[in-house]
Amino acid sequence: GGTTAKDELGNDVSLAKFLENRNPGDRTLVQGLKGDPTYIVVENKEAIKDYGINAICTHLGCVVPWNVAENKFKCPCHGSQYDSTGKVVRGPAPLSLALAHASTTDDKIVLSP
Ligand code: FES
Repeated sequence: GGTTAKDELGNDVSLAKFLENRNPGDRTLVQGLKGDPTYIVVENKEAIKDYGINAICTHLGCVVPWNVAENKFKCPCHGSQYDSTGKVVRGPAPLSLALAHASTTDDKIVLSP
């Protein structure tokens, strides 16, 4: 079952609004499956990528920020690094960031396992 992405106030995220003022490659946090912070990736002016990247570090669960300058996710807690698609490139994280399937329905962003 899918779940609609929520903003920080718990409201459904409108795709049109989400894409406003964003550029291809931008990664932006929403609340995804089970409320987990999840990055949605902008594909172009009309679409998002078909996957979302769970922001929870697979080491001990810190939220991992996106570092635009280095084109990677860098965990502030113990230094794990993940590439732009969430693949682990430096430990101690044992696994890559989890991915969710991202789609759009009725101008809503929908995430599913
Ligand atoms: Fe991310 Fe430890 S929680 S490196």
